[in-house]
Amino acid sequence: MASKEPIRVLVTGAAGQIGYALVPMIARGVMLGADQPVILHMLDIPPAAEALNGVKMELVDAAFPLLKGVVATTDVVEGCTGVNVAVMVGGFPRKEGMERKDVMSKNVSIYKAQASALEKHAAANCKVLVVANPANTNALILKEFAPSIPEKNISCLTRLDHNRALGQISERLNVQVSDVKNVIIWGNHSSTQYPDVNHATVKTPAGEKPVRELVADDACLMIVLLYRLNGEFISTVQQRGAAIIKARKLSSALSAASSACDHIRDWVLGTPEGTFVSMGVYSDGSYNVPAGLIYSFPVTCKNGEWTIVQGLAIDEYSRKKLDLTADELSEEKALAYSCLS
Ligand code: NAD
Ligand code: LMR
Repeated sequence: MASKEPIRVLVTGAAGQIGYALVPMIARGVMLGADQPVILHMLDIPPAAEALNGVKMELVDAAFPLLKGVVATTDVVEGCTGVNVAVMVGGFPRKEGMERKDVMSKNVSIYKAQASALEKHAAANCKVLVVANPANTNALILKEFAPSIPEKNISCLTRLDHNRALGQISERLNVQVSDVKNVIIWGNHSSTQYPDVNHATVKTPAGEKPVRELVADDACLMIVLLYRLNGEFISTVQQRGAAIIKARKLSSALSAASSACDHIRDWVLGTPEGTFVSMGVYSDGSYNVPAGLIYSFPVTCKNGEWTIVQGLAIDEYSRKKLDLTADELSEEKALAYSCLS
């Protein structure tokens, strides 16, 4: 069988800690498939050029069969030229005690500048995933300053939060993480996000059951678990990024890299039948979320396109949570523009 044409994948901030975890995953086929050759474009800034070259040396040393070339550069035009997928990790991470708003002014100006480079030099139909924080607002700035890139092609990472929610349900209900699906992260990749288990299910020997029904099966455990699913579960997922920073003195990296691979893989290759995932995408007003924000929704993906899952029931409690995180994104948008002016 003839081998596939390589796909060019840009990783910005490739000399940083997420970059260091992410590029070997891409080169091993975790992002685009075990039969998909790739050419990696790694972009960083001049002070990181030597470290970036070290990463390139390690990629050569690892002799990845799927890796057909490496471009390691501090030139944004060279980095963006011809790329089919762009994973935007470059920026300044949050440190202990900082809120995402604190990193806003540094990062939105980077995304404004890189928007035009991608617009001019990336392949037509390049898919863009913004990881760097504030991820939703950086993605929105990128979209607004790259008007010729279709809005369908610009997204931000909330899959890490989605995976964190799957992990928490698995731990709390003592079930395999691979048996849990259809959690939803609504809104901002921040502490106002709403991790929603109302539509989540768990595969059991008796078939697929809603998480809440499974909890209700055992009357003794019910009250404790329901409390955990409503209160403590939500705040654990919302605060997980901060908890990792507190423990590692660095923000999450391996889980962020792995989730970025999940995000692109599902977008390009499709979500399994009956499964939805969370992606930060341009709001079209679904679920009465204001249009014009990059907001995390439940989506399914097919033929390289995402579609927001429609018709899910939203109870009063959830409605308030959806609105709260939308309000924060509207504020961030205004703040971002004030930083850029
Ligand atoms: P890091 O500091 O280790 O790496 C960032 C890299 O970006 C550095 O090598 C830096 O030189 C580079 N960089 C800075 N400006 C750049 C520019 N203009 N162009 C290209 N590269 C540039 O940080 P990290 O831990 O890898 O985190 C990267 C970003 O991802 C941070 O903003 C962090 O908050 C964010 N993050 C997001 C999620 C998520 O789920 N969305 C999860 C974890 C971290
Ligand atoms: C995370 O969620 O781990 C990252 O976005 C880091 C952070 O700033 O919380």
